[in-house]
Amino acid sequence: MNEKPKILLVDDEETNLNLLKILCHKMGYECLTALNGKQAVETAVSQTPDLIMMDVIMPEMDGFEATRKLKSDPGTAHIPIIMVTAASSRDDKLKGIASGANDFITKPVDIQELSLRIKNNLNIKEYHDLLKNYSLTLEQQVKERTIKLENALLERDQASEKIKAGYIDTIFRLTLAAEYKDGNTGNHIRRTSHYAKTLALELGLDHDFAETIFYAMPMHDIGKVGIPDSILLKSGPLNAEEWLMMKDHTTIGSRILSGSQSEILTLAQQIALTHHEHWDGSGYPQKLAAEQIPLAGRIASLADKYDAIRSLRSYKNPQSHHQAYEMLSRGDGRTSPGHFDPEVLEAFCRHHKLFEEIFADALSINGSAGRLPDRQLAGTKPPAHRQ
Ligand SMILES: [Fe+2]
Ligand SMILES: [Fe+2]
Repeated sequence: MNEKPKILLVDDEETNLNLLKILCHKMGYECLTALNGKQAVETAVSQTPDLIMMDVIMPEMDGFEATRKLKSDPGTAHIPIIMVTAASSRDDKLKGIASGANDFITKPVDIQELSLRIKNNLNIKEYHDLLKNYSLTLEQQVKERTIKLENALLERDQASEKIKAGYIDTIFRLTLAAEYKDGNTGNHIRRTSHYAKTLALELGLDHDFAETIFYAMPMHDIGKVGIPDSILLKSGPLNAEEWLMMKDHTTIGSRILSGSQSEILTLAQQIALTHHEHWDGSGYPQKLAAEQIPLAGRIASLADKYDAIRSLRSYKNPQSHHQAYEMLSRGDGRTSPGHFDPEVLEAFCRHHKLFEEIFADALSINGSAGRLPDRQLAGTKPPAHRQ
């Protein structure tokens, strides 16, 4: 409230108006005046007084209607209105209450009563204003804190996205070390990520799992860092002893990746260990069968095999998509449909065209997981990758 409370005096009789004005001035109030209800409403809207003394019978708009209008407007509803009625008029009081007047005073006005009623109503308004301001301040504080909190959450999300991107990038680069050692390019691991994600989604697994396997898959052959170059890069067939050492890339990879808290590395460890197991129990290193093999390993097995068939090897030419499809779905003596989880194989058969597209251009498949870092095909060394 202002230093000097502002009172709007409304009366069509100027003598009354002046008398009230003198009295209110003497009581220390600032006064505004209006000669009818219409003026009263306009002045109240533009000047927002702290209190209104409203006469009842006036031309153009009477005190009841003016009071109703002011009380129905959220901008003026909080201003107390004291209605000045004739001493005997019970009807006026009832109508005044119905229109929303806060208090009444009868004509002729008693100075002491006037002073008390004005003070009371101003006190009530002051208290009301305090509460209103307090709740506005609170609301404002809540809003400001909510914005701060939202910004902090956004910054945290951005920071964790950056950390995740850096983490994925690091994994990919470390994995490339194994691929380089094997004389391969990064495209095999990049494509197998996409096949594995595609299979996971086609099997109806949830999006989170599909994302995790996408990032875990590049590490399936990371154990090759522990295999001697003389075996990895040998152009002729491996002897029995060499083959045994080659198979160790699964257990070495598993040891490298074990003991992590990370969901991606934990899945990568499972995949590294089991991506050469076969559904019929003829795989390695543990000769697991059927559901003894973790689902991620069963998915990885098919993803890895498809890409191996399609790729150039020192001991074989690359095969077409059609040939790969036939070998996986019908077998060729070395590869058998019995090697694969029937549901995974069915998912592949239903959507094998996607595999063909991924092989043709791994980077054209840009799932929500995002692209893996690119690497040039140029300068590809003769690959010696063995499954
Ligand atoms: Fe492997
Ligand atoms: Fe592989």
